[in-house]
Amino acid sequence: MSSAIKNIHARQILDSRGNPTIEVEVVLFSGEKGVASVPSGASKGKYEALELRDNEPDFDGKSVNIAVDNVNKIIAPVLLNKDVTEQYNIDNILLELDGTQSKANLGANAILGVSLACARASANYNEIPLYKYLGGIDANILPVPMMNIINGGVHADNNIEFQEFMIAPVGAKSFSEAMQMGVEIFYTLKKILKKMGLSISVGDEGGFAPSLNNNSEAIEIIIDAIEKANYTTEQVKICLDIASSEFYNNGKYFIQGNYYSNSDLAEILENLVMDYPIISIEDGMAQEDWEGWRLLSTRLNKKCQLVGDDLFVTNISRIKKGIEESIANSVLIKLNQIGTLSETLDAICYAKNFGYTTIISHRSGETEDTFISDLSVGVNSKQIKTGSLSRSERVAKYNRLLKIEQQLGDSAKYFGINAFNPKIL
Ligand code: PGA
Ligand code: ZN
Repeated sequence: MSSAIKNIHARQILDSRGNPTIEVEVVLFSGEKGVASVPSGASKGKYEALELRDNEPDFDGKSVNIAVDNVNKIIAPVLLNKDVTEQYNIDNILLELDGTQSKANLGANAILGVSLACARASANYNEIPLYKYLGGIDANILPVPMMNIINGGVHADNNIEFQEFMIAPVGAKSFSEAMQMGVEIFYTLKKILKKMGLSISVGDEGGFAPSLNNNSEAIEIIIDAIEKANYTTEQVKICLDIASSEFYNNGKYFIQGNYYSNSDLAEILENLVMDYPIISIEDGMAQEDWEGWRLLSTRLNKKCQLVGDDLFVTNISRIKKGIEESIANSVLIKLNQIGTLSETLDAICYAKNFGYTTIISHRSGETEDTFISDLSVGVNSKQIKTGSLSRSERVAKYNRLLKIEQQLGDSAKYFGINAFNPKIL
């Protein structure tokens, strides 16, 4: 069978922070190949699948030689001769071979590299682009980009607690127009920061990382940039990733030198939504603070998209609990939080079935791989979060989407504000 796997080979490469990560190449008997690499987070959720690192002195403990060996010596012989077009079968074999909930034996990085490289090889074997392989003829919606133009939290060496200040050009007519709007606002923001005598160096996701007085100032500067670039806050909305697990300790949230309860934080966030054109808030509460999430959801579920990232970790069992308890209304999707393509597709399907929106997301440590761009179109996720308009590992994802939009031609759709929850926004 020519779609059978002939060879699988993994190697260690570097991510955008210079940290080692894994790249996997799958070769078929037909001669077709698939290559994929794996990203890595900095503000990782506690309940994510395990990223296997060597913990040896080289690369400050971050080398991934064991994960590479697990692919080359354990996974490759088992998948030899298996049909690459049967993604669920391949992923099930990987799950069984690992045998743990958290993928701790083989490493989620080893498993995901193989899973994604198989999908690429299969798309190539079928001679169709990856997004069409994943989504068929229905795959024609380009996502609204959430562009992270001011970086804070653990992604930047500044004093802002909130991790991501993003813009979403909901008033664009197409993805390419959204890109142009984002870029023009990004240029304008640079000029504003320079004029204010603030730093214009960028953080891990390519957004500026100035030291500011507080989180609201970051929002106000972005609104200024939107308007000075000749757009309105009807056309361009603001999305935040609070990443609050990072400043949550002993039941309290630590912001600007003060400790706040979950109900204080819910009030702070509600006030931000009232005062500014904010349409989406991610991880407004910490990953284990279900009570805080309930408070926040009661206040804001009808007014704002509430996204669970560290809360849900792309894991159906956590998403299910959230849905049962009416917590949040949107799920951030990160392939390496769960570790296989099949489980990721299942999580997306499950969330959508219950009316939750899905946002396909990069990690703060990325490679040049653009798999998530194809995934976002393939599953019609309608939203993507893949950083700012600088740093090639971020822009590569946007460039891939520009190409997909061109390929789709007249059938390409862009949902704008209708991509978001709640639908009355
Ligand atoms: P991470 O951050 O990739 O560093 O975990 C991204 C996010 O929190 O959305
Ligand atoms: Zn997040």
